[in-house]
Amino acid sequence: MASVTLKRVSKVFPGGAVALADIDLEVADGELLVVVGPSGCGKSTLLRVVAGLEEVTSGEVWIGPSRVNGVPPQRRNVAMVFQDYALYPFLTVEQNLAFPLRMRKLSRTEQRARIERVARMLEIEALLPRYPGELSGGQRQRVAMGRALVREPVVSLFDEPLSNLDAKLRVTVRAEIAAIQERTRTTMIYVTHDQTEAMTLGHRVAVLDRGRLQQVAPPRVLYDEPANAFVAGFIGNPPMNLFPATVSSENGRLFLAVQQARFAIAPSRLPGWLLTGGQARIVAGVRPEAIECDGEGGDGWHPADLDHVEQLGHETLLYLRLCNAQATRWVARVPGMRPFKKGDRVFVRVSPERWYVFEEPSALPEQAQPELARSQTSSTLQ
Ligand SMILES: Nc1ncnc2c1ncn2[C@@H]1O[C@H](COP(=O)(O)OP(=O)(O)OP(=O)(O)O)[C@@H](O)[C@H]1O
Ligand SMILES: [Mg+2]
Repeated sequence: MASVTLKRVSKVFPGGAVALADIDLEVADGELLVVVGPSGCGKSTLLRVVAGLEEVTSGEVWIGPSRVNGVPPQRRNVAMVFQDYALYPFLTVEQNLAFPLRMRKLSRTEQRARIERVARMLEIEALLPRYPGELSGGQRQRVAMGRALVREPVVSLFDEPLSNLDAKLRVTVRAEIAAIQERTRTTMIYVTHDQTEAMTLGHRVAVLDRGRLQQVAPPRVLYDEPANAFVAGFIGNPPMNLFPATVSSENGRLFLAVQQARFAIAPSRLPGWLLTGGQARIVAGVRPEAIECDGEGGDGWHPADLDHVEQLGHETLLYLRLCNAQATRWVARVPGMRPFKKGDRVFVRVSPERWYVFEEPSALPEQAQPELARSQTSSTLQ
């Protein structure tokens, strides 16, 4: 097993596409690191750079104690499962699994034992005599995973390995990957689009945006203490509500002006740079579950209209707009089934302790962008 370290790694493709920009990242020996980010942010490139399939433009890649810049892929003892999981079409599933073992000259008994173990784990035993052309997409994906796992490499790289599986199988295989990782203590870097996968699988999660690392932290920290508005808007489903806002103080109390409504905010929620007047424009954020909704108003409650209601059984998602001119949509999450329906007037409130304040970012994740683009609020701390 081995750690993986990237030191100031950049990758610029001919033609100028910057896939990785100055990445510093350390994956500990035996760690499972999940990498998330929007399409095109550099996730696959990061894996390919570790595998040796792409050379870095600048910076260093280390596997364990060795600097591997210039070392060919076959000498890195790294296994990679690709996004498009290429299998050898003229070999059966069993032969596909045996291929990397034959290359390593393992004994037949050892080969058979490893193949059986992995096939059982991934529920592909019945598929061993078949050819890839006779498998479904999800089955092919599992075989590709199996081919990486039988090698028992020092580092495993997974590029969205479960994207073709149905929801139920995803959960099973996800649990299997976690179990395999725990047992083998293989260092894993795992790329996914899937929020749940990232949050449940990763010891730590790395968030990438346009080739830049935004934050690397355990899932809980990423959720509770996002480093910036991008991470806040990317992690969580539905994501955090983000709005341009102003902060003001009145009689020693602090308030956020959000879409012409005034919300109390606890002083502890304001970052230091704001108190020292470092930044004029801010973004206020609130998680869907931090918004209280009620059919009746009162002091500190704001009227809102329900645009859309999703009853999910264990919880209800409420899409609402505050009753004023600037209202863009909020999403609130309340537990259980609630008798709200589209068109209802409700009242909302946010605990002063549950607001987030971020610097105005250079860009927000896609879902948050239109909300911000429509507003012209400017911010100052008075
Ligand atoms: N061989 C290449 N030549 C030129 N540009 C490339 C090449 N491979 C990737 N890129 C560019 O580098 C950037 C990062 O690509 P990459 O495949 O790493 O993204 P990704 O995060 O894996 O995206 P997805 O989630 O869609 O798989 C993109 O802008 C992409 O267009
Ligand atoms: Mg990719």
